[in-house]
Amino acid sequence: MNTLTAEVIATARLDLLPLRVAHAGEMAAVLSDPALHAFIGGAPDTPGTLRARYERLTAGSADPGVSWLNWVIRIRDEGGLAGTVQATVGPSPQGVVAEIAWVVGTPWQGRGIATEAARGLVEWLGRQPVREVLAHIHPEHRASAAVASAAGLAPTEVWQDGELRWERRMGSGLGGARVNSGS
Ligand SMILES: CC(C)(COP(=O)(O)OP(=O)(O)OC[C@H]1O[C@@H](n2cnc3c(N)ncnc32)[C@H](O)[C@@H]1OP(=O)(O)O)[C@@H](O)C(=O)NCCC(=O)NCCS
Repeated sequence: MNTLTAEVIATARLDLLPLRVAHAGEMAAVLSDPALHAFIGGAPDTPGTLRARYERLTAGSADPGVSWLNWVIRIRDEGGLAGTVQATVGPSPQGVVAEIAWVVGTPWQGRGIATEAARGLVEWLGRQPVREVLAHIHPEHRASAAVASAAGLAPTEVWQDGELRWERRMGSGLGGARVNSGS
């Protein structure tokens, strides 16, 4: 497959903007709470390490068949950034799959932002040649399970590194994703 390129995705309240290195400074503050790492491991980046991470991410995968797609979440009416969503798209024995993940900064949590962003991302992926969307979620991470469910993913019985695989088949893979876009 050809690699995909992230595009601006607009939802009711949010603009998902393709990640740029210049977002690192603001995002380092958005993602500065160590609690964000309770289920996903690691620790917050400094502005410098986040900038280096964003340089690697925007350079893209060394594998020409794999797309690293990253967006920052901007709350349109407030202007500032609140989190990120990502999709890693590549081949699998089942066809092209997109592994997705989301993070919302602590001050912005509990407002349905992750749900709205994940739905927007899955709708966008439904317009790409993607056969399946999947996510790996810690079994005790109720907020993330709720986000996945709202985006149309369902839990499987497949475990990977202590996380449960959730997935959604995308019909023809050429469009037709049906996700309720209200929040
Ligand atoms: C998971 C995360 C993105 C949710 O962000 P959010 O913007 O607060 O999520 P939403 O407001 O859309 O809420 C989603 C659901 O989680 C529920 N929820 C929110 N915070 C919760 C909490 N602390 N405990 C239990 N449920 C919670 C909400 O009620 C909602 O459920 P509902 O739709 O049934 O009402 C955020 O907690 C986060 O960034 N966590 C750290 C990073 C992470 O673990 N990412 C997951 C990687 S896949």
